[in-house]
Amino acid sequence: NRKYTIAVVPGDGIGVEVMPSALRCLEVASHQFGFTLEFRHFDWASCTYYNKHGSMLPKDWKPLLQACDAILFGAVGDPATVPDHISLWGSILTFRREFDQYINLRPCRLMPGVPSPLAGREPGSIDFITVRENTEGEYSSIGGKIFEGTERETVIQNTVFTRIGVDRVIRYAFEQARGRKAKKLTSATKSNGISITMPYWDERVAEIAKEYPDIEVEKYHIDILCAHFVQRPHTFDVVVGSNLFGDILSDLGPACTGTIGIAPSANLNPTAKGGKGDKEWMPSLFEPVHGSAPDIAGKGTANPVGMIWAAQMMIEHLGEKQAADAMLHAIEKVLGAEKAGGLSNVLTPDMGGKGDTESLGKAVENELANIK
Ligand code: NAD
Ligand code: IPM
Ligand code: MN
Repeated sequence: NRKYTIAVVPGDGIGVEVMPSALRCLEVASHQFGFTLEFRHFDWASCTYYNKHGSMLPKDWKPLLQACDAILFGAVGDPATVPDHISLWGSILTFRREFDQYINLRPCRLMPGVPSPLAGREPGSIDFITVRENTEGEYSSIGGKIFEGTERETVIQNTVFTRIGVDRVIRYAFEQARGRKAKKLTSATKSNGISITMPYWDERVAEIAKEYPDIEVEKYHIDILCAHFVQRPHTFDVVVGSNLFGDILSDLGPACTGTIGIAPSANLNPTAKGGKGDKEWMPSLFEPVHGSAPDIAGKGTANPVGMIWAAQMMIEHLGEKQAADAMLHAIEKVLGAEKAGGLSNVLTPDMGGKGDTESLGKAVENELANIK
């Protein structure tokens, strides 16, 4: 009997609102495909917890997560009560680092039924993945402030690229490209202006490309790459970028496909050894790309698809390929069945509908229940 233990960390805002839909879809999928999920619910890694306890995490957060096969994460942040760098460094950024989740895989697809802000795009015509470096780069803790309070006040934060860190994400991206139809890799750079770290990134891409003669490689500076994302998103297949560039591109891509509300994200440690319960175990984490969306939190209108799709990536990662395929199919079917442009009772407002979190989540759940 295949049984998986899942840490459920909903976080704040709409993270808490979209999680139940994902859990219900997982329940149905597990029944349909004959595996068992045990959910362990944690209310920490949230600003709600911080405001009560003065810290984002309890002392034993690490063994609690290490007792699980994978982590399902909502979103964290309540900038009105806790500064973002405190809440995020006290949660998701700590998890990524402590568990060495060095790959952040973010698929981007124009789904049937979801209106795109770009004219004349057919469903499926935009279909690429962003492979984002997830543990170093611009997100470093090295730096500081000097001459504070004087007119010479200076702040410095260093970008850190390690050979291991850069090579492993680039190699992973090439492997992804090899497994796809177009066999093409696009590297995001800025080696014209950022003259030490980014030329190093380019060098490593060129060096590793020699191992993959079957893959077409291109590179663009991040500024024009953003323009190309908007003007010809159909030409991308696998896009690899540093931590910051990957972050930006993985909001821009989904925006081109209609909404960031549907975009999922897998924070992977592909070389983690052992399994749950081991002292050294480093579980992977699955979350939507979006944040806690304080502007719509509490309204019940958040799009749950990003969260459901993240749960789909999780069960695929756990080896439940059939169930994962069925979940993605259910998402596509529900979105595709709907008339875009304000007429739908199921699509959420970010997709032009007048549905809500509950109705859309329920529709995907029902679709899954009918599969097989
Ligand atoms: P955000 O993604 O939360 O929201 C950006 C915009 O997109 C908002 O207008 C929001 O309403 C909309 N949106 C986002 N998700 C949606 C959904 N599922 N359905 C419908 N609309 C949706 O980004 P932000 O406003 O920059 O950040 C808000 C807070 O979330 C901050 O505290 C930020 O640090 C945090 N954040 C957390 C994560 C994370 O936990 N991984 C990711 C991004 C931002
Ligand atoms: C994301 C988020 C995080 C990031 C923030 C909340 C720290 O934007 O997961 O994309 O920058 O990685
Ligand atoms: Mn982001």
